[in-house]
Amino acid sequence: MTKLRVHAFSISLDGYGAGSKQSLENPLGVGGEQLHEWFVPTSTFQQMLGKQGGTTGIDDDFAARAIANLGAWILGRNMFGPIRGEWPDDAWKGWWGDNPPYHTDVFVLTHHPRVAIRMEGGTTFHFVTEGIHAALERARAAAKGRDVRVGGGVSTIQQYLRAGLVDEMHVAIAPILLGSGEHLFNGVDMAKLGYRCVEHVPTHLATHIVLKK
Ligand SMILES: NC(=O)c1ccc[n+]([C@@H]2O[C@H](COP(=O)([O-])OP(=O)(O)OC[C@H]3O[C@@H](n4cnc5c(N)ncnc54)[C@H](OP(=O)(O)O)[C@@H]3O)[C@@H](O)[C@H]2O)c1
Repeated sequence: MTKLRVHAFSISLDGYGAGSKQSLENPLGVGGEQLHEWFVPTSTFQQMLGKQGGTTGIDDDFAARAIANLGAWILGRNMFGPIRGEWPDDAWKGWWGDNPPYHTDVFVLTHHPRVAIRMEGGTTFHFVTEGIHAALERARAAAKGRDVRVGGGVSTIQQYLRAGLVDEMHVAIAPILLGSGEHLFNGVDMAKLGYRCVEHVPTHLATHIVLKK
């Protein structure tokens, strides 16, 4: 059965999944790039960029798990880019260049309609204005039996958590403090929702936590 999974979602010690003031210059908000220091050097991520080499070991094992058996993705509009409000034109096509690292259908939640964009390498961005359930329904159909991953950001993950729809969640806690930004668990009662920690593994760059119901 198709699962809804969150993976490789990095938060600071004080719980932020992005710093404040997201912008073109700071896609993860001010200081937010440090969140991914465990992920970027991994062999898995380097291969996703079409490069060779990279680190192996625990961080890479979690990175590899994050992309296994995925048939579709769901993103929030702020993860897709820095533009807010109405789309001024069709120029913005995501942070990731002509060949984004998804290689599946990607459903972007937004209140502002936009025509789907077919990218190189099998990624198509679809813009969904009917809410989280409609996005999940479309993603499940597109995934054809494989799993659906909620990529982020915080607002999007929180909605799927509150609706009780996330089957598995891997969070990587980076040893940094951001002080402000988008707080992952703010207002989300994970215990009441029935989640428990089933794995916790430290490395020198992050502590990996897996939560399941
Ligand atoms: N730490 C990590 O591992 C990680 C991973 C991914 C992303 N991020 C970061 O997280 C940040 C983005 O997170 P975020 O919490 O600010 O935003 P987000 O979840 O990416 O996007 C929120 C926006 O998506 C649209 N949206 C969300 N739910 C919707 C719904 N039910 N119906 C219609 N539209 C909906 C709304 O945009 P409109 O109303 O404007 O259309 C909303 O403002 C970025 O900085 C990104 O780089 C971090």
